[in-house]
Amino acid sequence: MADTQQLRRLLLAHFDAHARDMPWRRTRDAYAIWVSEIMLQQTRVETVIPYYERFIERFPTPQALAEAHEDEVLAAWSGLGYYRRARLLHAGVREVVASYGGSVPEDAEARLALPGIGRYTAGAIGSIAFGKQEPLVDGNVARVLSRIFLIDSPLGRADTQRALWAKAEQLVRGERPGDLNQALMEHGATVCTPKSARCDECPLRQVCGAHAEGRVEELPVPRAKKAPREQHLVAVAATSGRGAQRCIWLVKSQQALFGGLFGLPTLDAAGDLRDDARCALKLAGISARLGPRRAKLTHLLSHRKLRLQLATATGASAEATGDLRLFALKELADVGVSSLTRRSLEALQLI
Ligand code: ADE
Repeated sequence: MADTQQLRRLLLAHFDAHARDMPWRRTRDAYAIWVSEIMLQQTRVETVIPYYERFIERFPTPQALAEAHEDEVLAAWSGLGYYRRARLLHAGVREVVASYGGSVPEDAEARLALPGIGRYTAGAIGSIAFGKQEPLVDGNVARVLSRIFLIDSPLGRADTQRALWAKAEQLVRGERPGDLNQALMEHGATVCTPKSARCDECPLRQVCGAHAEGRVEELPVPRAKKAPREQHLVAVAATSGRGAQRCIWLVKSQQALFGGLFGLPTLDAAGDLRDDARCALKLAGISARLGPRRAKLTHLLSHRKLRLQLATATGASAEATGDLRLFALKELADVGVSSLTRRSLEALQLI
């Protein structure tokens, strides 16, 4: 089984030779690293890069982000999904400005107490930005460690988590903790992948328990999965005007899923599409005539499958409020809308 020092040497040597260039690897700014790590949760590196660059250009310092209105922050995040991350990042950075003069705390406990910062993010910032020997475990690291050390209890269980964090903690002790953590994550993303691990080219093959026992494919043992809950919804695109002047009424979603983003008036489906659509308009405070165009859409979120029936309405009028606003369709790219809203408008051929 793997000797810790040998494993550290192999990981770091491979990282030095093959580390991918990523914009957040060119900084030690704890705020920028924080932003990148939040974006990278549940999102692939290639997707994150352009968002990260735009976000840091738009909000280059904690002060700039803290002063921004939540709508602006969500607009910069729109398309990345998991918007709760953005709201928590915003809240965390506001606290850093209010309580720590805009400097991300070096003290691990203080960092962990911030909104949106869990053990993983605290460890990433601590090790990468501050060079502290703080461990981290994400999905990639869990896979790498469970294979190397033959941890074969299901992911997500308390004893499995304890075993993984204990190994990560052992490994990060030594020089270059930030690189060591990033090397582990990178190894999971590029070599020790979920499907068809590239053991032939793996620099850790000689110290890997799963490789020695031919158990790579069966580790890690996945957590028992619940089927995503299905939700049937009706949404209405209520427009006014024509051609390039066409506008659409959007409501600020109160649903936890998309809280704070503008989207189509939406309702749980009760049965009859026209009745449901009229009801959605009424609840939103919009008067409009239902049109003939319809569409259907299935949208998968992490724990839910949304089945949407989409209706259109024209000649829409309403009284604009903070939560009900008229947007020019051609300007929607600048507004924070979710992928679901964008897909809905595409399905109705409105964008
Ligand atoms: N995944 C999340 N953060 C990462 C990082 N800093 N390097 C590589 N992969 C990552």
